[in-house]
Amino acid sequence: MISLIVFIQINVSSILVSTLNQDVLELPDTNVIYPVDVINNKDVNTSINYYLSKKDELKFIDDANTANRQQKIVLPLIENKENMSSVHLVLEYTNVFGRPKFCSHKDEDIFGRMCPYTNCKYTCNQTYEKDAQILLMHKRDLDYKKLDKLQRNPNQIWLLWHDEPNERSPELNKYKFNWTISYRTSAEASIGAYGLTIVKDKPWSSEQFNSWIDEQFTKKHNQAVWFVSNCSPKKRLAKFRSLRQHYPIVAFGRCIRHNESFSFNIHNQSASTCTRQSSCETDYLSSSKFYLAFESQSCTDYITEKFWRTLAYGAVPIVSGPERENYVRVAPPNSFIHVDDYASDDQLAEALRSVANNRSLYEKYHYWRRYYDIRYLAKDIEPYRFCELCYRLNTNKQRIWYENINDWFLDKC
Ligand SMILES: *[C@@H]1O[C@H](CO)[C@@H](O)[C@H](O)[C@H]1NC(C)=O
Ligand SMILES: *[C@@H]1O[C@H](CO)[C@@H](O)[C@H](O)[C@H]1NC(C)=O
Ligand SMILES: *[C@@H]1O[C@H](CO)[C@@H](O)[C@H](O)[C@H]1NC(C)=O
Ligand SMILES: *[C@@H]1O[C@H](CO)[C@@H](O)[C@H](O)[C@H]1NC(C)=O
Ligand SMILES: *[C@@H]1O[C@H](CO)[C@@H](O)[C@H](O)[C@H]1NC(C)=O
Ligand SMILES: *[C@@H]1O[C@H](CO)[C@@H](O)[C@H](O)[C@H]1NC(C)=O
Ligand SMILES: *[C@@H]1O[C@H](CO)[C@@H](O)[C@H](O)[C@H]1NC(C)=O
Repeated sequence: MISLIVFIQINVSSILVSTLNQDVLELPDTNVIYPVDVINNKDVNTSINYYLSKKDELKFIDDANTANRQQKIVLPLIENKENMSSVHLVLEYTNVFGRPKFCSHKDEDIFGRMCPYTNCKYTCNQTYEKDAQILLMHKRDLDYKKLDKLQRNPNQIWLLWHDEPNERSPELNKYKFNWTISYRTSAEASIGAYGLTIVKDKPWSSEQFNSWIDEQFTKKHNQAVWFVSNCSPKKRLAKFRSLRQHYPIVAFGRCIRHNESFSFNIHNQSASTCTRQSSCETDYLSSSKFYLAFESQSCTDYITEKFWRTLAYGAVPIVSGPERENYVRVAPPNSFIHVDDYASDDQLAEALRSVANNRSLYEKYHYWRRYYDIRYLAKDIEPYRFCELCYRLNTNKQRIWYENINDWFLDKC
């Protein structure tokens, strides 16, 4: 059983014909925001404006839902022409994980050199506490006593930055933050939270693609890899333990017992010598067809760096956590396997074997590589979020605040 993806009939271009003899390139049908569809639409404008406007279409839908649940209040902005400024000042009001974040960076590096908006300024000089349009506050670094005393100007935006999932924090509700930076699409700045699909400047030719597939299909083992350091989330451990009875998984980390890992690799590494983010991990990643990109939480849109790294290293992520639709919005087309699509481990294992053994099927999970690249390093993705922030400052027509930010963050957690 292969995953349930909508098959769309597409206009098969001459390039496509040479690699795929059937016109069944699997593409998600709706809601794709970041991977601009350059496969079917060659003339699409791939500038960041496209990403921004697609994100807003989805934010609009998400905001309507959160407004219905009274989590977020969205009203029309009362524009005050006199006080409209051509420059938007963002003040780093708290540290970020205990230290200054962008204080010594140039504005164009923070908001991105590719950003179409260039009128945003960033400062850490606290004398601008009253005048800055945005007070940027990182959740872990909030000083509640200081915040309680802060005089609030209704035109000033209190922006909460928070990328951790499933933290219960009802004490945040009373501050009625206006905007958030987070991984959720309905956050005011979310693009590229942990990773991003971007369009290649120049697509691979079918020869380039075919030789990549030939090499990878032959070289990579028919196995999945998993590195896990946080043993508290029990659901994903249980999934690993049941799946490994049907499919070979090389697993490392504190949570893995010595008799629980299987490997086709030439050098079987012991769990203690092979650590996450080491060359040992990347060696396994690039020599295996799959990686278990299991998230610790199921919170809406919580898709982390492990997903993006897997794609970057040429493996197919097997995902669990957020719902399929959350992935479809940000992932390259047909790039992952979602465990929820299979009724049993047996069926999932069968699907993995099919993909790993059937070149034409394997190719379908990698076809996106002709047109897209992955970015997941902070220095590459942070400018996208801050560009989105600057875009919002320039285009915002809404007065927003989070009435119940705690529940909003806990959505589907
Ligand atoms: C794409 O959009 C950007 C921003 O709106 C614009 O500057 C650029 O000229 C457009 N490119 C094309 C090829 O239309
Ligand atoms: C508009 O700006 C003026 C001068 O800086 C200030 O006194 C006034 O409070 C501002 N109005 C609002 C609504 O913030
Ligand atoms: C902060 O800004 C004020 C007002 O522009 C300026 O006088 C002061 O020197 C600045 N402080 C620092 C540390 O740059
Ligand atoms: C692994 O070893 C533990 C005891 O240390 C045992 O309970 C478990 O059944 C073993 N698992 C497998 C898959 O052999
Ligand atoms: C690695 O270990 C597994 C058992 O976990 C074994 O089946 C496999 O043959 C070993 N591979 C090599 C190359 O020694
Ligand atoms: C391989 O997968 C393709 C679909 O991509 C299918 O048409 C074909 O029958 C499969 N081949 C085998 C041998 O299962
Ligand atoms: C920010 O939130 C406050 C508190 O609810 C609200 O009064 C104000 O109108 C909001 N400002 C903007 C610019 O959205």
